[in-house]
Amino acid sequence: MRAIAPFNLVPPEPLLRAQHVTLEYASEHGVVRATDDVSFDVYRGDRFVLLGPSGCGKSTLLKAIGGFIAPRAGSLHLGGTPVTGPGPDRIVVFQEFDQLPPWKTVKQNVLFPMLAGGVARAEAEVRARHWLGKVGLARFADAYPHTLSGGMKARVAIARALAMQPAVLLMDEPFAALDALTRRSMQEELQALWDEIGFTMLFVTHSIEEALVVGNRILLLSPHPGRVRAELNSHQFSLASAGSHEFQAATQRIHALLFGADADAPAVQPQPAQVQP
Ligand SMILES: Nc1ncnc2c1ncn2[C@@H]1O[C@H](COP(=O)(O)OP(=O)(O)OP(=O)(O)O)[C@@H](O)[C@H]1O
Ligand SMILES: [Mg+2]
Repeated sequence: MRAIAPFNLVPPEPLLRAQHVTLEYASEHGVVRATDDVSFDVYRGDRFVLLGPSGCGKSTLLKAIGGFIAPRAGSLHLGGTPVTGPGPDRIVVFQEFDQLPPWKTVKQNVLFPMLAGGVARAEAEVRARHWLGKVGLARFADAYPHTLSGGMKARVAIARALAMQPAVLLMDEPFAALDALTRRSMQEELQALWDEIGFTMLFVTHSIEEALVVGNRILLLSPHPGRVRAELNSHQFSLASAGSHEFQAATQRIHALLFGADADAPAVQPQPAQVQP
């Protein structure tokens, strides 16, 4: 008789692995270090959030994961393969409203990267219809971006990205330019899409509340240059728990970790930890 192990004790391989990543820009005033020795692992189905103050290198990290800039030191791997350049397996949704070319209709905006990436037109049309339906914009397929609200433009950008079926969806403060109510409903819609589809997402924000609502894991980065301050689990929070005592306590704890008296202390290696009151 064959022995059957009761549990699979082998930990899953991370989908995205950042190891000791240091990122720099060369400027006329010398070298600007954006991040310093940043390490983290993103697993399939994670809603992984990079949270830190303005200038701590969040966008720069996304650019490096997108393959647009190479690390000065350290490495990035996706599915075990080193990241050496951009690819359709990593799609970025930006904060700016003008990320949609204005001369293309909503549907043409969604189709464009698929067709450019070699997806056959018939398949691209099916995917575009599917994803525009998922984000509630089926009726606006032939509208031009300037006729849409900010929230609708954000939804087009999300549909366009998910239609590419990326291994990881990279989101750089995608809702930061929206008013508070629209931002809240977009967070809700993103959560509903994730519940349904379970895609892997790396989400950048400098809002503690948004990080807790959107993420299941949060990497806290120190001010410029970004170093790992801590890593927290936040899967227990959602918009529904946003007013709760636990949510407030987690917000305060993160605030203290980012800006408290010892926030300038040398960074520590990430330690998985529960956000507890
Ligand atoms: N093209 C560039 N050339 C030189 N320095 C840059 C460039 N882009 C960013 N930096 C610098 O790198 C650091 C990190 O910038 P980055 O845009 O990644 O921060 P961020 O965390 O995304 O900030 P924010 O929350 O304001 O978007 C900052 O000090 C910034 O001034
Ligand atoms: Mg940024």
